[in-house]
Amino acid sequence: MLNPKNKNIVFIGFMGVGKGTISRALIKTTKRFGLDTDDLIESMENRKIKAIFEENGESYFRKLEKKTAKWLQKNVKNAIISTGGGFFKVDNLDKIGTIVYLRSSFDGILARLKAHENADLKLAKRPLLTDEDKARTLFEERSSLYEAKADMIIDVENRSVQEIVTDIIQVLKLKKD
Ligand code: S3P
Repeated sequence: MLNPKNKNIVFIGFMGVGKGTISRALIKTTKRFGLDTDDLIESMENRKIKAIFEENGESYFRKLEKKTAKWLQKNVKNAIISTGGGFFKVDNLDKIGTIVYLRSSFDGILARLKAHENADLKLAKRPLLTDEDKARTLFEERSSLYEAKADMIIDVENRSVQEIVTDIIQVLKLKKD
């Protein structure tokens, strides 16, 4: 089930669904290396995503995502890659690895974010989440697009991180070494 060319796993899904959390748990269990596209972009630019949006706008950020996608395709193997919520739109997504869509309802995502001890920070660092109505519309627009790009869909709502990780390991036949 893993993309035989590069054996990467790529998590896609809406902001706040838990791509980073699931990815880090899978990295720990499988002892693979992991990368996050927002982290790569922040280090390339030496500033936060929020500052990139404020200073250069969303379209500039999307160009950085495309550049990151090309770099991942060319250079990364055997890794677990978590992505920003809009990264799935890059042209070469299917060439980067096996695509795992983490799915939840919008209300489930909001509840997860609001339950977090740093809830304000989690919301404030995401420019496209500041207006809840706009975020809900974006979620509705994107839901079927995420599904269309996915090799595998994992429902995450009301499930523990461990359960989800166990599922992914089984379906993708990963070794826990
Ligand atoms: C975005 C999601 C963010 C980040 C940027 C844009 C989006 O990542 O890449 O704010 O378009 O959905 P997270 O999904 O990690 O919040």
